Parts: sequence; C-alpha cells; structure tokens
Amino acid sequence: MVRLNEDFLKIKQSYLFVEVAHRVAAYSAAHPQADIIRLGIGDVTLPLGSAVVQALSKAALEMGEQKTFRGYGPEQGYDFLRSAIAAYYQKHGVSLETDEIFVSDGAKSDTGNITDIFSQDNIALISDPTYPVYADTNLMCGRTIRYADANEENGFLPLPDAQTEGDLIYICSPNNPTGAAYTKEQLALWVSWARQHGAVILFDAAYEAFIREDGIPHSIFEIEGAKECAIEFCSLSKTAGFTGTRCGYTIVPKALVVKSSTGEEMSPNRMWNRRQCTKFNGTSYIIQRGAEAAFTEQGMREARANIAYYMENAKTIGDTLAKKQIRFFGGVNSPYIWMKCPGGMDSWAFFDELLNRAQVVGTPGAGFGKNGQNYFRLTSFGTHEATAEAMARFDRLF
Ligand code: MLT
Repeated sequence: MVRLNEDFLKIKQSYLFVEVAHRVAAYSAAHPQADIIRLGIGDVTLPLGSAVVQALSKAALEMGEQKTFRGYGPEQGYDFLRSAIAAYYQKHGVSLETDEIFVSDGAKSDTGNITDIFSQDNIALISDPTYPVYADTNLMCGRTIRYADANEENGFLPLPDAQTEGDLIYICSPNNPTGAAYTKEQLALWVSWARQHGAVILFDAAYEAFIREDGIPHSIFEIEGAKECAIEFCSLSKTAGFTGTRCGYTIVPKALVVKSSTGEEMSPNRMWNRRQCTKFNGTSYIIQRGAEAAFTEQGMREARANIAYYMENAKTIGDTLAKKQIRFFGGVNSPYIWMKCPGGMDSWAFFDELLNRAQVVGTPGAGFGKNGQNYFRLTSFGTHEATAEAMARFDRLF
C-alpha cells in the first residue's frame, strides 16, 4: 500500500499567508461592506515600470512571428539575462561568471528546491522568527532544524557562538519578517564560521534593493571567502514589482566544492544545474526579456522610484507607531515593520482585534516562529492612501 510523505504531518495545516487569506476571506464574507486594508502579505501594488512593460510587449510580439518565435529555452536562463544580472552584481563589486547564475521563477521556489542537492542528514539552522518557507521545506523532507533565536537583545540578528550547530545556515538580510539587516562585519562572522565548520550559507537577498544604509552588504559575496561557502537567492518580486510576473535567480559559485563521504569532490553548481535541467524547463522568454529591462538604467530608475514610494509608507507606519509609543523595528533597510503587539497581546489575538475593529490586515508574528508570539508584521507595499487610512484607524484605536 502506498505511503505518503509523513513529514507533512509535522508542518502546519496551511501555509502562513494562506491561513491569513482564509481568515480575511471569512471576515469579508461576514462583513461584505467592510473596507479592508491589506498590509499582510508583502505583495506589491504599483504597476510594472514602462521599461519592463515595453520589453514584455516586444517579446510577446516576437513570439507571434515565425522568424523570432522561440520554443524551449535554456533551463538556466538566457545569456542576455544572466549577463545583465552579472553586470548588476559588478556594481556591488562582485564578479560572477554567467554560468554561476541560474534564472528561475522566484526566490521562494529556489530556496525551497535547493534542499534537493543536500543530504537529508544535514541539520538546518534557521533563525526564529523566519520566513516560513525555510522551515516548512526542511520539515517536508524530514530534515532536523535548529533554531537561532532572533530577539530584541540581539537586534533580531543572531550571530554564531559556541552553541551554534548547523550544516545549512539560512540567512535572510534584510530580514523578512523583522526588517533587521546584517552589517558587513556581522556577515563576515557567519562566513568565517561556515568555513571553519564546513557549513553552507543559504543567503536570501530578496530585499537587497531596499537597503538605505552604508555598510550593509547587498550580496553575501561582498564578504571575502563567501564564494567558498554560500549560495545566494534573489528575486525581482519586490525590487521591480514581479510578484505576479515571476522571475528570480540563484547564484551557485563554482568555488563552492564539497567532499562526498568517499572523498570525491562534488560541485553544488553542477548539481543545481543537473537538478534544474531535470525538473525545470526555464523561465518564459517573455518574462526574461522583461527582467532584462529591469536591469537597464531606465528599468532601475523606475524600480528605485517605486521602492522610494514604498519606503514613504514605511515612514508613515513608523511615525504612527512612534507617536503611539509602540516599539517597532525595520522599515529602514526593508519594506517590513516588525512591531510589538500593544499591551503584550498575543499576535493572533492582535490580528483579530485589528481586523475586527479597524479592518486592517497584518501578519501575526507567531506565524514566523515562537519568538514572534508578541509581534506583528506590517508591510509598506500598500498605496499611500491605504497606508495613511490604515494608520489613521490605528491611531484612533490604540
Ligand atoms: C511575505 O509577505 O513574506 C512575502 O510576500 C512572501 C514571499 O515573498 O513569498
């Protein structure tokens, strides 16, 4: 008789943002007139920039012409986009070869799928709170997880110490959900620890474009030695408004080499390539042309303008919380604001209170881990009007 993957019994019934969406849908069905403001999932609201739209349109038309039509593309991504990504990294002083860059449909899929190339016996070290994908995907394949406490005492930026244990070290900086970002010196401590202990850092840089402060690396590869111990994931979702369009990329340096149990050298770059060729047929040509345009001068100018718009929302939210003397973090190098629930409330109770009394949706901190129990995440991806209205309601309520 068939047996299912019983590791699924270890994860919550539904994915965090699906759970939030269900609760909001139930509230909306019971209160059809309610004007609900959604500051929960980090989904962008501004449209794609014109450079991207023009490139997408042109590529779509090419697909309708015999001479320019394309079928299957390279599983790793077209060279034009891999070169554009390499040039972008060069701006941060990081030199990459194009065959170290793998284009995909987003960082969420890749951070989940990367588990394929690592043995089940590895221990995953994940911060608590965390973007739930890291924990869920490791639980799904039966891997042991250790949690590194991220809390107010360490500025939500855990660092390695004598107790640290793990083979796969997940780091998201700027962080989802807390908004905290590691400095170059702090990341160097992780790189040195990983090299000493033969661990691999899985670095999620999805929010790098939101970095405002100097001294915060945009890529783990800005740290010396990181190419020997890290893989990086990035995405155009939040940078260029691609949450619905879907395009991301993963950097697997060729300098990263791991010995097998029999002493054979194994290359994660070649393994990821093999995995992608087997299980993935590549990101659509049209989308890759749109992504290429996001890396042009005009594309980046437009993306920066959208990010500046969202960061004004972060300020609106921060100003309101400061006025109400509610402690919060993030919102400086990140689109997320991580606030303490007023009166020490439990985060799901606060979620209900905010939804019922102000019709504002956020994400309960408990959904990101036990250390999020009394925290709540708000995103700055709404419109100015909706964010201002949400904060006006908040101001009246607390
Ligand atoms: C979030 O709200 O945490 C993000 O939108 C999730 C994601 O990028 O998958």
